[in-house]
Amino acid sequence: MAKKNNTLFVCSSCGYESSGWLGRCPGCSEWNTLVEERVATATPPSQKPSRGGWTGDDAVVSLEDVRSGEEPRFSSGLPELDRVLGGGFVTGSLVLVGGDPGIGKSTLLLQVSHLARAKGEVLYISGEESRSQIRMRAERLGIATSHITLSTQTSFEAAASILAARKPALCIVDSVQTMYSEEITSAPGSVSQVREVTAGLLRLAKSLQITIVLVGHVTKDGAIAGPRVLEHMVDTVLSFEGESSGAFRMLRAIKNRFGAAGELAFFEMTGDGLTEVRNASSLLLADRPMNVPGTAVTAALEGTRPILLEIQALLTPSGYSAPQRLCQGLDRGRVGMLLAVLEKKFSSGINNFDAYVNVVGGVKLTETACDLAILTAVFSSLRDIPVRPGTLVLGEVGLTGEIRPVSQIGRRLTEAARFGFTSCILPGGNKAGLERTRENTVGMPERIYVDTVFEATDILFAPSRKGNTK
Ligand code: TYD
Ligand code: MG
Repeated sequence: MAKKNNTLFVCSSCGYESSGWLGRCPGCSEWNTLVEERVATATPPSQKPSRGGWTGDDAVVSLEDVRSGEEPRFSSGLPELDRVLGGGFVTGSLVLVGGDPGIGKSTLLLQVSHLARAKGEVLYISGEESRSQIRMRAERLGIATSHITLSTQTSFEAAASILAARKPALCIVDSVQTMYSEEITSAPGSVSQVREVTAGLLRLAKSLQITIVLVGHVTKDGAIAGPRVLEHMVDTVLSFEGESSGAFRMLRAIKNRFGAAGELAFFEMTGDGLTEVRNASSLLLADRPMNVPGTAVTAALEGTRPILLEIQALLTPSGYSAPQRLCQGLDRGRVGMLLAVLEKKFSSGINNFDAYVNVVGGVKLTETACDLAILTAVFSSLRDIPVRPGTLVLGEVGLTGEIRPVSQIGRRLTEAARFGFTSCILPGGNKAGLERTRENTVGMPERIYVDTVFEATDILFAPSRKGNTK
């Protein structure tokens, strides 16, 4: 080739590399995420490999001879965050906190700097805000602690020597996009820079036994490398979600080498920073409309904790040949499948309606255990009949309209009982297991088992139907 190739196109979402620009990344199928980057040549070949994570010692030992034991941990000072982390921060681990800009990552980590039971100094390295800005935020949050030290260094090599000299117990790096390594020629925030910086921080965390929390912005715009390319390198990935216009925030463990992934914690953004929400169900169901069509309540399991969620649906006659299907917090494909089941089984004429389906509170729902609740909310809006009052709906819906069993039903029912639900529609497949394990049924909702969507709708809409026939 005539042209000398010293640039490469790298996907800012998944890290896929290509010699030419492509509109769609073959690695992750995202559009417009490939950005041009210079090939890094400044690193001398004698240096340690930078992308393979940290280099441990050379000794090879038998697995039998390795001493097992709990990793030393310390509390973040926020019990909900500790739960998501699997029991607090592990000493010498690298935690990545990702989220949209403005969601509250810096606020959360400044609060953690203050509250964490780290035995020693907490170093806050900020490339985003000046020292006085951080001080102002700390004053607003009522934080004035002498154990927090600040640095606005953005060079990785300089930050590394600060860490080696001070050996803090906890270090916050805000954010990975502002840090750069002098070894690499591309701009801060580029894929090769964020990868290099993260690999360097991982080596430091392991070798100096410092817990490092790394902030990473996620942007839809592919110009800035998102933390997605870093997920495989770090020990723990926490994702901070929610609508920045609302007060509700969710912190989810996407990956955790030291605990269960999928754990979820709720926070509320107030004038005094973030406060933990222990009882998420009551907040999510607080202003629930009663006795109106188009709403159903289900119990989702996020990690180990059940939460009650309201699903709302609105169906309106469509003016388009291809009706609209809009979902918030739900997988569009899954909702499409449930609408197809509804059409096939009830000949409901649903293709003449636009459908809007929503999980209240900005929560993202991925569990199939909530299928029947989605179907119920849609059916309720379509027929304009409210769902039987005080009833929780659980079950996965199959393509033939059968209701399939869901996992951990006992915990979901206990949460329903706490919130005064008097009855629950459950998959027939769960009956044997549930009746065997739960002798004590006092205070539990009445359990109604169903095997098909027909049985479910007959029970859920029966009383109102009678009322509606004049
Ligand atoms: P921030 O932590 O700066 O977000 P990130 O670091 O993820 O970009 O949070 C910014 C938002 O939080 C901002 O819109 C103001 C709001 N906020 C409060 O509502 N209360 C507070 O006490 C603080 C410090 C911030
Ligand atoms: Mg910030």
